[in-house]
Amino acid sequence: MKNSNKEQDRLIPSSSNLKLSSSHQHYLLNFFTHILVFGSGILIGITLTFYLNNTFSFNFQFQQFSLPSLGLKSQQQSPPQPPPLSQSPPPPPPPALLQSPPPPALLQSPPPPPLLESPPPPPPTISITNNNVSIPNSQIETIPSMPNNNNNNNNVDKRDITKFSRIGLSDFLKTPMAMHDMSEEELLWRASMVPKIHEPPFNQTPKVAFMFLTKGPVLLAPLWELFFKGNEGLYSIYIHPQPFYNGTAPPTSVFHNRRIPSKAVQWGENTMIEAERRLLANALLDFSNQRFVLLSESCIPLFNFSTVYTYLMNSNKTFVESYDQLGYVGRGRYSLRMRPQIRLSQWRKGSQWFQIDRELALEFVSDRYYFPVFQRHCHPDCYSDEHYLPTLINIKFLRKNSNRTLTWVDWSRGGPHPSKYIRPHVTIGFLEYLRHGSLCEYNGKITNVCHLFARKFTTNALDRLLRYAPKIMQFN
Ligand SMILES: *[C@@H]1O[C@H](CO)[C@@H](O)[C@H](O)[C@H]1NC(C)=O
Ligand SMILES: *[C@@H]1O[C@H](CO)[C@@H](O)[C@H](O)[C@H]1NC(C)=O
Ligand SMILES: *[C@@H]1O[C@H](CO)[C@@H](O)[C@H](O)[C@H]1NC(C)=O
Ligand SMILES: *[C@@H]1O[C@H](CO)[C@@H](O)[C@H](O)[C@H]1NC(C)=O
Ligand SMILES: *[C@@H]1O[C@H](CO)[C@@H](O)[C@H](O)[C@H]1NC(C)=O
Repeated sequence: MKNSNKEQDRLIPSSSNLKLSSSHQHYLLNFFTHILVFGSGILIGITLTFYLNNTFSFNFQFQQFSLPSLGLKSQQQSPPQPPPLSQSPPPPPPPALLQSPPPPALLQSPPPPPLLESPPPPPPTISITNNNVSIPNSQIETIPSMPNNNNNNNNVDKRDITKFSRIGLSDFLKTPMAMHDMSEEELLWRASMVPKIHEPPFNQTPKVAFMFLTKGPVLLAPLWELFFKGNEGLYSIYIHPQPFYNGTAPPTSVFHNRRIPSKAVQWGENTMIEAERRLLANALLDFSNQRFVLLSESCIPLFNFSTVYTYLMNSNKTFVESYDQLGYVGRGRYSLRMRPQIRLSQWRKGSQWFQIDRELALEFVSDRYYFPVFQRHCHPDCYSDEHYLPTLINIKFLRKNSNRTLTWVDWSRGGPHPSKYIRPHVTIGFLEYLRHGSLCEYNGKITNVCHLFARKFTTNALDRLLRYAPKIMQFN
């Protein structure tokens, strides 16, 4: 106000010959004011157009960047903008912006609502660009081609969004290949992930993971083939052979392509535990695996698949043998250097061959507290495979463990290796004894089905096993 008054004062004396009447002065003043307002209006308009052009093209470039590379993430963050192409003008992209994209938060904030409302020009530009766009071909191709899933939604935009997110989930849930290129560190990290919401938002048939820790091939494969036949979708198989083994299972076999990346294993050493952990980690990558069974190449199933599956799934207990043994081969293997992480009172012994659930499998692969103690202080005559899991269970999962294993083995002859069974041993009587020869507790009741698997059987026992399997073990 003060300023304009002063200007008026100055104007009036300078234009002395125009000093006609007060109405004239008013006319002139109005004229100049209009020009001023009009001029500044144009200026503001130009500035705005420029500014908006920049921000829009900028956004456009950002999306161009993020859609293909960030994939899922960017789609989740900006779901309601599937048609970014139509909104974007075609400006020649300023290279400086391309090379140094500032953080996404900044990118998304700039277009402030009040500015958007004021500028008049955009509509014509948009329609022109829309029809004849200078969008790179890659962009046009990636967006419509990605959602190839069938989906019955009428709205095109919505359909695109649902397709994107479906892909995200199904991708995430896809049964992973047994072979992969993850390093051990990467594998364990990925396997250790656990959803905080326990109920999955989809139907899932729980599977049993059968994990074979072998030197080479699964020796009794034909018997296992018979066992698995007709139960597809209820099991997954993982094989960890010694790395030098170069054999492959034929494409018709259930063992085909089920080998995981393996490393050398020394009998009785911690490398054995590492191999078990590798098997578990691979099996954990498949969300539908709910029970985990460790087997050797000389193990056989004692019951048919449906019995084994039901037995494992219907029990909330884990089957890890765990007991306290006095003497040289029990407590004698404990070392005082294992303190303070492991005390003698916690030290346990048990069979290497376990049947556990997902919770325990997760603990096994992500344990970075107890296992390093074994790696440092448990070497023959201390055998980690007989002490690590039994001790870990005793410390952390005492209440849910049954303290027994489902794998029958005969140590009665003594020595470092259990009895091996060859052809003449395999009789109907012997198999019946393995199946029903002992009593134990299962879900609070006493049962005579205590072992689902047995070892050690040689390949020359195979023909008898195959002969008895349908009749005795009711494979079919
Ligand atoms: C877009 O441009 C091409 C040639 O550059 C022309 O053939 C085509 O008809 C144009 N499309 C529209 C919708 O204007
Ligand atoms: C597998 O290894 C054996 C030696 O261990 C070798 O004789 C054989 O040729 C190898 N087979 C293949 C297919 O590489
Ligand atoms: C599996 O074996 C059980 C007995 O252990 C039997 O009742 C059942 O019918 C068998 N299942 C099949 C599919 O043969
Ligand atoms: C196992 O746990 C589930 C859920 O906690 C429960 O419904 C079921 O009865 C339990 N089964 C046994 C045999 O304890
Ligand atoms: C397993 O053994 C522990 C002692 O190591 C004991 O506390 C627990 O009750 C046992 N569990 C069963 C089911 O016997």
